Amino acid sequence: MSDIATLQNQILAAIGAADTPDALEAVRIDALGKQGSVSALLKTLGQMSPEERQVQGPAINGLREAVTNGIATKKAELETAILNQRLATERLDMTLPAPEAPHGTVHPVSQVMDELAEIFADMGFAVAEGPEIEDDWHNFSALNIPDTHPARAMHDTFYFPRSGEEQRMLLRTHTSPVQIRTMMAQEPPIRIIAPGRVYRSDSDATHTPMFHQIEGLVIDKGIHLGHLKWTLETFLKAFFERDDVVLRLRPSYFPFTEPSVEVDVGYSVVKGKRVIGGSEGWMEVLGSGMVHRKVIEACGLDPDIWQGFAFGTGVDRLAMLKYGMDDLRAFFDGDNRWLRHYGFDALDVPTLSGGVGA
Ligand code: DAH
Repeated sequence: MSDIATLQNQILAAIGAADTPDALEAVRIDALGKQGSVSALLKTLGQMSPEERQVQGPAINGLREAVTNGIATKKAELETAILNQRLATERLDMTLPAPEAPHGTVHPVSQVMDELAEIFADMGFAVAEGPEIEDDWHNFSALNIPDTHPARAMHDTFYFPRSGEEQRMLLRTHTSPVQIRTMMAQEPPIRIIAPGRVYRSDSDATHTPMFHQIEGLVIDKGIHLGHLKWTLETFLKAFFERDDVVLRLRPSYFPFTEPSVEVDVGYSVVKGKRVIGGSEGWMEVLGSGMVHRKVIEACGLDPDIWQGFAFGTGVDRLAMLKYGMDDLRAFFDGDNRWLRHYGFDALDVPTLSGGVGA
């Protein structure tokens, strides 16, 4: 038998005898490692004459291949044996209590926005969105608030520096521009709500430079104030989850509605606290009205055919009224203690059990 064949038999026997991954690795290093026996033979190829190499080359390479394959096969065998051994002996105790993983809470603003979307979805309203960086026209002019209008001063607007002749860009001061964008983008009939962030340069216990509003818009034929009242009443009853919610509509003024109404909701005083329901006192909750003809016209629709109503209110304020928080600034401080106290369990959020009654 040639030397190569003898060496091969020896190494394959050693592989066969290796009964642990470490023993196998030792055999591998002995044969294929830098100083290994097979590596030494491979090195001799360099010094051989071409004729000799033609004979020895295939034999030595064949040896290397046989050893490499032998090791791979044995390695897989050993690994399977180890796994089988573990499967046969290890037991997982599924009855052990799992350590509780900390989890966050749903912010009251997110919770209330979800509730609002749910209530209005029941009434056939879709959710619309618009940009927070808005232009002058959508935020003011199209809503019948021309340049000289005093309402512009009331909005404490954050303007961007003017660039050239382009119209001034700003951070939207209300969600009402979404009314304009929706009317320009889709054909009536329209029923949308638009929740989102709005910005005003204002800060105290009840005002933050960023806060949340929700806008509502209905455009159809023959829409009148009665539809508005029913919609708001149905919404507020579902939101506060009480049937005794009483509304008071007061004449008011908004440039983009005519007539305009401010809506108050009645409260009772229970143990010194105001509770929504009854009519011992009144709290203003939203602004609304019939969409002004000029606004409908600005969006390219004929106000003699299409009418509608709109409303807008603060989401943060609704959250404060429903869940009893009194400092708006805490909403945006990111204080974990506040969030744990007022936030909602993400896996167990309260749902509006009643929904919108038929
Ligand atoms: N945009 C008004 C504000 O920010 C709120 C508002 C009032 C919206 C009347 C409306 C509306 O759609 O009809 O104060």
